[in-house]
Amino acid sequence: MSHDFSVRAPGRVNLIGEHTDYNRGLCLPIAIAAQTTASVRVLDDGPSRITSAQQDQPWVGSAAEAAPGRVSGWAAYAAGVLWALAEAGFDVPPLDVRLDSTVPLGAGLSSSASLEAAVAVAAVTASGRGLDDGLRTELVAACRRAESEVVGAPTGGLDQTAVLLAREGAAVLLDFDDGEPADVPTGFVEAGLDLLVVDTRVAHALTDGGYGSRREECERAAARLGLTSLRAAGLDDVARLDDDVLRRRATHVVTENDRVRAVVDALGARDWARVGTLFTASHASLRDDFEVSCPELDLVVDTALQAGALGARMTGGGFGGSAIALVPSERADAVRRAVDLAFVAAGLGTPGHLDGTPSRGAGLLT
Ligand code: GLA
Repeated sequence: MSHDFSVRAPGRVNLIGEHTDYNRGLCLPIAIAAQTTASVRVLDDGPSRITSAQQDQPWVGSAAEAAPGRVSGWAAYAAGVLWALAEAGFDVPPLDVRLDSTVPLGAGLSSSASLEAAVAVAAVTASGRGLDDGLRTELVAACRRAESEVVGAPTGGLDQTAVLLAREGAAVLLDFDDGEPADVPTGFVEAGLDLLVVDTRVAHALTDGGYGSRREECERAAARLGLTSLRAAGLDDVARLDDDVLRRRATHVVTENDRVRAVVDALGARDWARVGTLFTASHASLRDDFEVSCPELDLVVDTALQAGALGARMTGGGFGGSAIALVPSERADAVRRAVDLAFVAAGLGTPGHLDGTPSRGAGLLT
């Protein structure tokens, strides 16, 4: 029997905890309003068909035909999830999936994880399963497997976890050292604060070398300290690294984990000035020690701060993409305008502005 239903999966913004996931560290993402939707029809027989309003070519095939090495481009993210679910033992019927997304591509807002999660939720719903926390966790694993094995992007799990587990109004504290995810209400809306998201529209790709080399440097730093990951390192350990680059990379990771804990405390205490200060400190660390910012991201951060933001930082992998700014609502328009003017003055293209209201994770649309 075939039937129709629709699902949605959001993009994400990481409030803080950047380049920590693959170091068994802490992250604090939210889901955002921008989302991928999938309208789904269960077919009587195969092959499955996935189309995207943002792409020219559909993907048509069986889950086995989406195995690593057999599919490339955008379809690797979408169809790769069908392969990963089959590998995990899910019995997914053939599907017709029509995707459409308001998450800008390459903006550091997890358009890929959003696409993966939409397909994953579509597939398990078609197989008759209801979404509970346990199933969501299994879907995170399948989406991560699709991205690392089918797409070949060595990402750390932040994105898939955020888009599948986040709840409305809250950030989710992720502990990649085997900790349980925990909801952390942000209180931004109630406090009259806006989280602005500015897409620099400078393209970045996680399959480029920068991300992989940062990851490799972190692994090397941990190995030199005799540790399995930088999660176990303290600043006194890091000081023992004689390689300047490795020492700076490790310094970022260790201090960033501390900042995540401090932001969770400051959110609980409704100490917005402190939250802002920690955001800005995170940006400086990513810019100076981890070296993953770029002039456009720095310009958004500096301009937002001058125009009245409590704090601002790049979000996501870096090398382009988006920045966030925590701003009293009455200053939001002025901050957006200041950023636009700064981009004009610097001879850059117009940046994009998105809503950073903490939204809910992937699920049925109806
Ligand atoms: C990208 C990756 C994530 C994470 C961030 C940096 O978004 O996909 O796994 O490493 O960069 O925090």
